Amino acid sequence: MKKINIAIDGPAAAGKSTIAKKVAAALDMVYVDTGAMYRAITLAYLEADHDDFEALLSHIDIRLISDNGQRVLLNEEDVTERIRENDVTAHVSFVASQAAVRGFLVDLQQQMTLDKGVVMDGRDIGTTVIPDAELKIYMVASVEERALRRQLDNDMRGISSTVEQLKADIAHRDHLDMTREISPLSKADDALVVDTTGQSIEQVTEKILKMAAEKIG
Ligand code: DC
Repeated sequence: MKKINIAIDGPAAAGKSTIAKKVAAALDMVYVDTGAMYRAITLAYLEADHDDFEALLSHIDIRLISDNGQRVLLNEEDVTERIRENDVTAHVSFVASQAAVRGFLVDLQQQMTLDKGVVMDGRDIGTTVIPDAELKIYMVASVEERALRRQLDNDMRGISSTVEQLKADIAHRDHLDMTREISPLSKADDALVVDTTGQSIEQVTEKILKMAAEKIG
């Protein structure tokens, strides 16, 4: 079977990580959630109380462990749940706009894709991290549906929020991610658009597995 890389990009809460995880499991590929890496650096930034990113990055070790999904270790500490909390979410777009941070993470992410067999989701995967990915998906959904999904997710994690507040937060984050100077969120020319509004997880997963099967041959 031909080994391929799959890049999945799109705005916040469009369903990327849920679907990417399922696609990776079905194809026995490695799943990499790059948003979690930006979140881990954001947590280190919040704990450090300074914005010398070069200095911060020189003390940072990020490891991703495949575990029926992905666990995130920041300097050996498991921060998988912690990085989903509101303070991290509120600051992650700022941290992700820093050139030093992007250089550090893009390098790390590119190393992970060298042997192929990776499903990677984020904002700049098809445009910057793996421009030669065999399959590129640009996943979108309405803001209303994305806020409702995030609310269910937060309920399950015990994080307090309201749908109205999440709608505003998602729209704000989309704006910051799409307008930042370095590697803004944008669709790669050769990416296929998948709109998940009104679609079940199974329907979207099936659709992408069909697209992948065509590439694998
Ligand atoms: O996917 P997420 O919501 O967990 O991502 C958190 C933030 O990280 C998102 O607002 C933008 C940033 N990000 C990025 O700039 N580039 C990526 N490849 C992935 C995430």
